[in-house]
Amino acid sequence: MRRGLAIFLFINALIVTFLVHSVFTLLTLLIEDGSTDAIHSAEIPAPNSPLIDSLPQLIPKIIHQTYINESVPEHWREAQTSCIDLHEDYEYRLWTDAKSRELIATEYPWFLNTFDNYTHPIQRADAIRYFVLAHYGGIYIDLDDGCNRRLDPLLSYPSWVRKTAPTGISNDAMGAIPGHPFFLLVIESLRGYNRDWALPYITVMYSTGPLFLSVIWKKYMASGADVGDGPSGGRVRVLMQDEYNRHAWSFFSHHRGNSWHGRDARFIFWMGRNWMLLTAGGFLIAAVVGMGLWWIYGRVLLLGQRRGGKVPWRQMPSFWRRHNQKEYELLERHEV
Ligand SMILES: *[C@@H]1O[C@H](CO)[C@@H](O)[C@H](O)[C@H]1NC(C)=O
Repeated sequence: MRRGLAIFLFINALIVTFLVHSVFTLLTLLIEDGSTDAIHSAEIPAPNSPLIDSLPQLIPKIIHQTYINESVPEHWREAQTSCIDLHEDYEYRLWTDAKSRELIATEYPWFLNTFDNYTHPIQRADAIRYFVLAHYGGIYIDLDDGCNRRLDPLLSYPSWVRKTAPTGISNDAMGAIPGHPFFLLVIESLRGYNRDWALPYITVMYSTGPLFLSVIWKKYMASGADVGDGPSGGRVRVLMQDEYNRHAWSFFSHHRGNSWHGRDARFIFWMGRNWMLLTAGGFLIAAVVGMGLWWIYGRVLLLGQRRGGKVPWRQMPSFWRRHNQKEYELLERHEV
């Protein structure tokens, strides 16, 4: 009995530790405002300012976008054209499904199996943008983001992502030099995060989407790798909402509602508000698993005793005894 209790408590401790560990990074996202790495509007020259030419140009002039095939639907053409027209001196790459798969197959064969087996096509669209940034460098832009001004000032940081309000970062616009340590970590982490969370929405968010990216971003910063602004610096700068799309001088114009800063932030904040409920839930799961194990332990004990010809009811946990008394009586009557 005392041994059973010890096992019960031990299992509980293990499960609670595991749960706290797995949601810890998620919870730290709640208090991460990105301010330490924010790109301040003061460091961004006005459009067409001669100061732009004095900035270092670290990120290669490449714009990456993704779509199923070359026929981009009409409702995204305007946004797509706005970026292409403003950047005639940039290379433009549209990553179709076929081209995406080819890049993975030739350059990252270790990822091809995961890539091919993603359940949702959006997971491939998410994943390929990290790979092209890690591989070629450049700026990735979602097809529903239009360009409001030339992106040259954003080429002066080794890498940048954009903040979403009220928490986390998005993967709809980001830039990096080739082989930037943050994006290398991102592509290396994809396989480990490829889990099915039953709900498609959470699965996509947490396996390849903005929630995944935000968690890796937090882990990257926690690892201390996020230092250095030089040509191969590890720092990841953060484009804040104002500079992203709020003003006439912002870089992007958003053409269609994006889900991340709505639903997903709400989900994380819901977790923050209901941490007591979640903790209680954790203890409940721990209790159920612990009792299950205790039951199995009791069962093994019972079998061992039976072999000796005696059924030691007194040695069984009382809750088990009660639940199984009836069944046992039936069994006994049958045997008689
Ligand atoms: C591109 O994909 C769309 C959506 O699946 C499809 O309707 C269209 O026919 C495709 N175009 C080409 C050229 O294959």
